[in-house]
Amino acid sequence: MNIKNLLAKASLLSCAFSLLFTAGCVRKHRSFTAEEINILPQPNEITLAENSFGLSDGMELTYADEQAKEVATTLAEALTKETDLEFSTAGGNDGDIAFILAPDLGKESYNLEVSPKGITISASTSAGFFYGAETLKQLLTKDSDESPWLIPALTIKDAPRFGWRAYMLDESRYFHGADYVKMVLDQMASLKMNVFHWHLTDDAGWRIEIKKYPKLTEVGAFRKDSQISNGKMWKSNDYSGVPHGGFYTQEEIKELVAYAAKRNITIIPEFEIPGHSSAAIAAYTWLGTAGKDIDPPIKFGRHYDNYDVTSPKVEQFVKDVLLELFELFPSEVIHIGGDEVGYQVWEDSKHVQEYMKANGINTPADLQIMFTNKISKFIEQNGRRMMGWNEIMGKNIHGDFSEKKMDKEAETALAKNVVVHFWKGDLNLATEAAQKGYGIVNSLHSNTYLDYNYKSIPLEKAYDFDPIPEGLEPQYHENIYGLGCQMWSEWTPTNKDVEYQTFPRIAAYAEVGWTQPDQKDYEAFKKVLKIKQQEWDALGINYAKVLVE
Ligand code: ACM
Repeated sequence: MNIKNLLAKASLLSCAFSLLFTAGCVRKHRSFTAEEINILPQPNEITLAENSFGLSDGMELTYADEQAKEVATTLAEALTKETDLEFSTAGGNDGDIAFILAPDLGKESYNLEVSPKGITISASTSAGFFYGAETLKQLLTKDSDESPWLIPALTIKDAPRFGWRAYMLDESRYFHGADYVKMVLDQMASLKMNVFHWHLTDDAGWRIEIKKYPKLTEVGAFRKDSQISNGKMWKSNDYSGVPHGGFYTQEEIKELVAYAAKRNITIIPEFEIPGHSSAAIAAYTWLGTAGKDIDPPIKFGRHYDNYDVTSPKVEQFVKDVLLELFELFPSEVIHIGGDEVGYQVWEDSKHVQEYMKANGINTPADLQIMFTNKISKFIEQNGRRMMGWNEIMGKNIHGDFSEKKMDKEAETALAKNVVVHFWKGDLNLATEAAQKGYGIVNSLHSNTYLDYNYKSIPLEKAYDFDPIPEGLEPQYHENIYGLGCQMWSEWTPTNKDVEYQTFPRIAAYAEVGWTQPDQKDYEAFKKVLKIKQQEWDALGINYAKVLVE
């Protein structure tokens, strides 16, 4: 028997002896140093104490209410998987690991208190309990084969900086499938990210079954070929020669929505209107303005038809699709895209021009807003809230696109109660929108686009992103809901490609969303990230090796 085992036995004996005379026994384990506490994202307040809590067979996890019950059960399973120890769960407040109700804590906040005697996780919501449990799992330590599983004695008081911490996956350009989605949802949960923004429709493919319009997937989910980058990206004239397709059935969607909800992740579907709509127009020609039969395009980019927003039948289509989305997605917010609408097809259309004249609509940007406002009203009437890319405010943000730089700006105001997804344009546009009372999710492309290479957005640049625009007065900060990072997938056909672009930058964005600026520290982040990478190695995730040893 080695010395460690001997000491452990001796301490157990003395403990049993003292139990005869006292009410309890506090096992002496080792203490931890601050350098050994590695949690990602960095919590906002940690106070380290002496000693640690040792897990042992038969310990009990208790839960104060039903919302804590599910988290306690899942944590018990996760601890068993990691440690091979058995745990039980029961209602109550006095377990070895106790989930306790703390009504004063905020929506996603938690307090974690670990002493040698026991552990409490306090929260007011299932989200708070969930995050407390996620932190606890990251603290679990085993020093050697013989040593017990330890959790350092400490107190953590934690709450996110922002309520919106999103990862967007574009599945229109390439279908990545449920296994990838589940893997990324698992990773998001561990990183305390809470919004999965699902870009399900675009020119290149329609990826969600809609019962009322079956051709959307029968036709719109499959294309004959795909442009490939060959180092030239948008200018490439090369094609893969391989057909591509795939979509989610409504049953699969429901399963993924439930999978996400169990991990405190809301799925926000994006249904693009009125542009980026060729896959739908390929399925139903009457949806388009040009009246031309098309196939789902095989070339990526912005050069296609738009929905005919002057047609009552098209308006009904959009509402019908939304009604099915409402059934599938319980999210408060529904994303309607609205970006990069090419106005030429509306300029060239006789009936659209007549409609605009008859209705006193002066510019295509106004026509877009008029339609967007109608849809926003419909979404609100159904108890939800619309979100769209910041073009929906009617400003021309595309001075760099030859075909759009002369677009006139809209005079029509965007409906209130909308979430503006800021991705491009002068930062003042985000500031002004926040001042006007719009909710803002900041996804500035130069800082948060995961399809950009690591030269354009190195890890440190991702880490340094601040979703609050510089100079925005503090009274408007609450209108900045948070941030998104966006995985556009034109040039990343395989899941391994997408993983490479996503990881490790997603971890940097997670910390941007969670940790207060005064608690952020890039050097400390890199150190914890190395531990996270071991987990990704074990899972076979193809992260970019940007951390040089
Ligand atoms: C966008 O990148 N077109 C929102």
